[in-house]
Amino acid sequence: MPDPLAAAALQAREHAHAPFSNFQVGAALEDSAGRIHTGCNIENATYGLTMCAERVAVFKAISEGVRDFRRIAVAADSENLTPPCGACRQILWEFCGDIEVILVNPRGASESLQLKDLFPRAFDASFL
Ligand code: THU
Repeated sequence: MPDPLAAAALQAREHAHAPFSNFQVGAALEDSAGRIHTGCNIENATYGLTMCAERVAVFKAISEGVRDFRRIAVAADSENLTPPCGACRQILWEFCGDIEVILVNPRGASESLQLKDLFPRAFDASFL
């Protein structure tokens, strides 16, 4: 049976606004209550204001008062499964800690990683 979190990320990808790169990404973040918070990439004509799918999902959840997370799924249509960019890894570490990161594509490929392996020796509030 397909993972509902992966399915939610693939579904969220359908809402991507990516007219400049034409690279659509979806994300689905599962909180500790089992609720799913989705996001898609949202590009901008100035390019630099583009927001990744992962950060949209995290910020939506945080803005609704959710603070504990279990897993995130990231969906893109790439042969080599698309991992979160560096900026998103920092944000995921800050708000989610060492969560499971599931990469999927629309053709059924998937891979599970831990954020600590994608983002070793992170800078965070523990240094301040
Ligand atoms: N993108 C994401 O949304 N998440 C990632 O993990 C990688 C990149 C978006 C940003 C931009 O809209 C497009 O993919 C191409 O970089």
